[in-house]
Amino acid sequence: MSRRSYSRLARSTVLASATVSRPIRTSWLAQLIVALVAFGTARAADTPDAALDSIEQRVKPCTSCHGIEGRATREGYFPRIAGKPAGYLFNQLLNFREDRRHFPMMTYIAQYQTDDYLHEIANWFSSQQAPYPPPQPPKTTTAVLDRGRQLATEGDKTLDIPACKSCHGTRLLGVAPAVPGLLGVSQDYLTAQLGAWRSGVRAAAAPDCMAQLVRRMRPGDLDAATAWLASQGVPEGAEPDTSFEKTPELQCGSILQGTHSP
Ligand code: HEC
Ligand code: HEC
Repeated sequence: MSRRSYSRLARSTVLASATVSRPIRTSWLAQLIVALVAFGTARAADTPDAALDSIEQRVKPCTSCHGIEGRATREGYFPRIAGKPAGYLFNQLLNFREDRRHFPMMTYIAQYQTDDYLHEIANWFSSQQAPYPPPQPPKTTTAVLDRGRQLATEGDKTLDIPACKSCHGTRLLGVAPAVPGLLGVSQDYLTAQLGAWRSGVRAAAAPDCMAQLVRRMRPGDLDAATAWLASQGVPEGAEPDTSFEKTPELQCGSILQGTHSP
């Protein structure tokens, strides 16, 4: 797929989730506007009543897109945020705020918040142990899935691509604090993110290892890797690893800095 069609995919999957039918779209937007106003006021309100300003209250707007407890689903575009390492979630909120990632609603959400507040939200979602949806039955050939498994678990020395596992954890469930898990997330979302890195629409703290890596992948490799990842089940009680087995082969700014992007 070309760069352009990847960013089209990202856009169209977002739109597809929002325009399934007119009544759904209207209620989705209405819900969101109410929720976002609540997000702003919950923070601004200097109320002595703790119940009105609880973290549960403040994260409600997020769940209209990210699902209850941030668990999302395997379909559609909205990523799961529950249980992802807190540093990773915090870095993404900064990335939206500082223009390294682009989704208008997320930029709006992160724009006027303090770092402390974003840390608090990131910590809350990270601590949610919500169940994962069952894996997606693969809609592709065995050869493609084999290639995906190879990239994820072994890498490809001829193309100088380290295994996804070497950074995303022994079980591909992430490594705290800054690397996200890749299981239990929809294939649409994963493919759109890799495409966004390839076309420069998404960036992480420099050196941006993911940007280097996707540019080494062959056409077809992006889909192969994400098809295999989306077809994997997530073990119960899944949690990110707490350290790397070996030092990652490429340098990643977000790992080097722990939880902060420049
Ligand atoms: C209008 C729907 C919507 C709302 C409301 C929303 N998000 Fe998002 N969020 C998204 C989409 C879509 C993405 C992925 C955007 C992209 O392609 O980069 C995203 C991405 C994220 C990410 C990065 C996830 C990852 O795995 O990289 C985080 C963290 C996040 N949102 C947190 C929040 C929080 C916290 C709130 C509430 C304060 C919130 N979101 C509200 C739609 C939404
Ligand atoms: C050298 C280390 C390294 C390797 C190898 C690596 N990644 Fe990553 N990956 C990262 C880091 C660090 C991040 C977080 C970047 C950020 O903060 O935005 C990331 C983020 C991602 C994301 C974004 C997840 C989300 O929730 O938005 C996807 C998708 C991804 N990687 C896929 C892959 C795939 C597929 C492979 C194997 C082909 C791979 N990665 C190999 C370090 C690595």
